[in-house]
Amino acid sequence: MSFQEALTDAAERVQTHLSVELAGYAEQPVIAAMRYAVGGGKGLRGFLVLESAALHDVPAWQAVWAASAIEAVHAYSLVHDDLPAMDDDDLRRGHPTVHRKWDDATAILAGDALQTLAFELLSHEDCAPDPAVRLRLIGSLAKAAGARGMVLGQAQDISAETASTPLTLEQITELQENKTGALIRWSAEAGAILGQANPEPMRRYATALGLAFQIADDILDVEGDADKAGKALRKDEEAGKATFVSLLGLEGAKSRALALVEEAEEALSAYGARAVRLREAARFVVAREN
Ligand code: IPE
Ligand code: IPE
Ligand code: MG
Ligand code: MG
Ligand code: MG
Repeated sequence: MSFQEALTDAAERVQTHLSVELAGYAEQPVIAAMRYAVGGGKGLRGFLVLESAALHDVPAWQAVWAASAIEAVHAYSLVHDDLPAMDDDDLRRGHPTVHRKWDDATAILAGDALQTLAFELLSHEDCAPDPAVRLRLIGSLAKAAGARGMVLGQAQDISAETASTPLTLEQITELQENKTGALIRWSAEAGAILGQANPEPMRRYATALGLAFQIADDILDVEGDADKAGKALRKDEEAGKATFVSLLGLEGAKSRALALVEEAEEALSAYGARAVRLREAARFVVAREN
């Protein structure tokens, strides 16, 4: 199986799990919006959970609960990120954003419910037989998604748009480690938590990977193809946002991203050949077109 096939396979597995989970819900626009919002993504975060779990001998039928939880939180973050009060975007994953297809209230509620669904999934006994493991997953995801993680990064991102002086490289790095890095880091760590192993190598891997991922997002915004990306591009400069590209230049940003890929691969050395998919994932995040 190629890397791309493995990524698609993981995304389908998570997609199926979430569809089954949402199947018994009331027929309400908010539920339809939730189903819509979890579809069509690359599924990178769920893939990282499944791969890091496999590396720690945790079976996929079990890890799919945590993989579904992180994709639900990620989908919520995008639904809210696209709202008029935030980035005001009309297109996501090649389709109208949730608030454009329905309305703002439905998008807010669908995001809220996707977030709580994530924690419901992690509390399910099939997620991990040991309740202490489930608690660690719940506590660490709450921290990664909240005001010391993704939400903090989103707030820093918004205030950066109106800051009188552009952010420094150090500040941008911190912002991105929260905004994008926290959920990616949780994804890779989840497998080690499930396998009750030391999460440190996974954390080092995912910190480098998350940063490389965000630098690639900034590069895509400048030179990507909007049709392939499935979302509006050229928005960062327009918004006057300091990004890795504005600070390092295109070539500088690309070589920084490549250095981070090497750093991510290096962090996996203790796992040897078994970590091949995670090494491929590091290369994929900087080569992707969407
Ligand atoms: C997009 O994330 C938002 C950022 C953190 C830059 P992805 O590029 O992983 O989005 P999907 O899930 O594949 O649509
Ligand atoms: C969104 O970042 C990150 C989160 C939702 C946490 P961006 O605003 O840069 O993502 P895109 O470019 O809309 O996908
Ligand atoms: Mg944003
Ligand atoms: Mg956005
Ligand atoms: Mg972006």
